[in-house]
Amino acid sequence: MKFPRACVRHGLAILGTMALIVCGAMNDARAATHDGTAHIDVSGRVFRLDAAKVTYAFGVNEKGQLQSIYWGSRLAPNDPLPTPVAPPGRDAIDGVVNVIPQEYTGWGEGLYYEPDLKVTFPDGNRDLVLHYVSNSVHDNVLSIVMKDIERAIVVTLQYEIDPGTGIVRRSAVVENQTATPVIVEQASAGTWILPRSHDYTLRYLAGRWAGENDIYERPVQPGKTVLESRRGSTGMQNEPWFAIRRNDANETHGQVWFGALAWSGSWQIAIEQDQAEQVRVTGGFNPFDFGYKLAPGASLQTPSFYAGLTSGGMGEASRLMHRLELTRILPQAPHPRARPVLYNSWEATGFDVNEAGQIALAERAASIGVERFVMDDGWFGARNNDKAGLGDWTVNPQKFPHGLKPLIDRVHALGMDFGIWVEPEMVNPDSDLYRAHPDWVLNMTGRPRTLGRNQMVLNLARPDVRAYVFHALDKLLSENQIAFIKWDYNRSWSEPGWPAVPPDQQKNVYVDFVRNVYGILEELRHKHPNVEIESCSSGGGRVDLGIMHLTDEVWPSDNTDAYDRLRIQDGFTQAHTPGVMMAWVTDSPSSMNGRSMSLEYRFLSAMQGSLGVGANLTKWTAQDMATAKRLIADYKAIRETVQHGDLYRLVSPDNGSEHSATESVSPDKAHAVLFAFLHSSTEGYPYPTVRLQGLDPDARYRLRVLQGTLAERTPTVASGAYWMNVGIDILMRGDFQGTAITFDRE
Ligand code: DGJ
Repeated sequence: MKFPRACVRHGLAILGTMALIVCGAMNDARAATHDGTAHIDVSGRVFRLDAAKVTYAFGVNEKGQLQSIYWGSRLAPNDPLPTPVAPPGRDAIDGVVNVIPQEYTGWGEGLYYEPDLKVTFPDGNRDLVLHYVSNSVHDNVLSIVMKDIERAIVVTLQYEIDPGTGIVRRSAVVENQTATPVIVEQASAGTWILPRSHDYTLRYLAGRWAGENDIYERPVQPGKTVLESRRGSTGMQNEPWFAIRRNDANETHGQVWFGALAWSGSWQIAIEQDQAEQVRVTGGFNPFDFGYKLAPGASLQTPSFYAGLTSGGMGEASRLMHRLELTRILPQAPHPRARPVLYNSWEATGFDVNEAGQIALAERAASIGVERFVMDDGWFGARNNDKAGLGDWTVNPQKFPHGLKPLIDRVHALGMDFGIWVEPEMVNPDSDLYRAHPDWVLNMTGRPRTLGRNQMVLNLARPDVRAYVFHALDKLLSENQIAFIKWDYNRSWSEPGWPAVPPDQQKNVYVDFVRNVYGILEELRHKHPNVEIESCSSGGGRVDLGIMHLTDEVWPSDNTDAYDRLRIQDGFTQAHTPGVMMAWVTDSPSSMNGRSMSLEYRFLSAMQGSLGVGANLTKWTAQDMATAKRLIADYKAIRETVQHGDLYRLVSPDNGSEHSATESVSPDKAHAVLFAFLHSSTEGYPYPTVRLQGLDPDARYRLRVLQGTLAERTPTVASGAYWMNVGIDILMRGDFQGTAITFDRE
């Protein structure tokens, strides 16, 4: 994946250096924070990328290694950059190579920190020392070619800087130009080198099913922290995202370096501080059980690794990531379509779907303003529970005797579009597909095939499996008027073998599987350009910049409890835009934990992301339906700001905080939306004054209360400065209360 092509305005030769000035596609409302252009400057043996508020520079040292020079706030164009000179080693025991801040290292010459690339040759040689060969700039991408000092292993590093955010994309292509196959045992996109310091705190996201995106912090100290997935997919135990802040940085202030990996298979990000206080962040394929056989002439492209920095604290770091996703990563970037309000049948019906029941739900959904009706699991094969049917993507004739057409026609007649659930990478042993092709699953010959949710993982790396899955989905989309698929993935890998290929090629499955998933998504999007796709994996198990490049939205968690969601969403938005963060209003008491909350509270929680409804609407009262209709109409009026605006996390719900608040501001600062929540009142304290952020201090904003009550003296019109400094007093008492207020520039 690369940034979409930017147009080259002109190239100039200046005193033997080459400077390319490229005009960015994202020269929009961010004008205040960047100049809308990216600069790549190749001066002798120093390479410099400038964009927005960032300068990134590295060069070739006297040994031929690629050495980091600077990654920080933007410098003046004519500022002198230090010549890269390898620092002297301090002692024999650590070897001089270990103190050089290299951009990309092969494992060789006594390297002890995390290498970027490790290769085994057929003769047993495992020493790899990469030195600079050449550079070029094409389509806004700086390519640096490196080669082993003796053998023809050639690595092309790619660098690209996003004009809007200053976020740099890195990836590497490893090419085997020798005459024999080699095994690549570790390959990263590259290593980010932070300014030398012992003043850092690492923030990362970790979780589990129904508890995704918990925020953790730990000091960066000598040693290594590894964030990873070994499970074949992105996973929810760690998110492929990191942030390293100065110890004094907080949500609103201070320096933060951050990044995210675009890969939906097993991945690793290693954050390491060596004895010389050098902090390195290396990310790419997970080296555990990795061994990619690279034939002569073949190449392996690593995932892309994106990273940026800011002086504006964690909040600004998140907003930069959000902007990158909206303008560069998502399939509809730079102008993703606002997410429609959807209804999903899962929590209402489970597997018990049929024509009449779905139509009854659709009619209720349409009456409250839902725009997309999605039928979840249970419509195909012999799928009455999770024990059977996966893999057989034909409509169940008992549940839908006339096919899907009557339901889809009714949904259309009600003014909604139609979406459907699939889980294409899986198969139940009790399915026609498995009975016909038991060899199509990941397995190791003679070993048990461990089940997860009664299912196995199809080996998508196999060309025949890839073809089957593509054909099944293509047929479904070609034969039915389907606008949306929810692409689910409900178990992690076990026995990741591929017996049909020679033993030394079997581990290629870690890469080829994911590439084929991406390939199917790409082909489907190409053939059915109007179909939108959601990435779901038992909740938020497959949320990463790789899958987000090919899907329009993601499902953050199976936990739809509106209070738990506040915390899950707080973690989610550290790394990802609320524009893709689906959030359903479900029934009370919550099926997750039995907690009861008002319908208004549940709506307000979900309205901070991309709103959906997942309740059993046939049981809602007339008053519930009226409340839902009102709040859905309100949501439609604010969704552009919520989904595509700038998010300010005013008060985090983390750590059991009694109150929390978020605010979204439209890019032109004309509109803002405030959501405030009270978990539980204690000792009669009033709700703390909420002070907004990100408004134009000189503009005047009119306030409108969508839900809740304000203190009597609250003005209805005041300046941005007033709302940001005096703030707003909200009257909230009791438990699980919510307030929503809009601010519109006059
Ligand atoms: C897991 C998903 O996260 C749920 O939303 C639902 O689609 C089920 N799978 C269906 O089996």
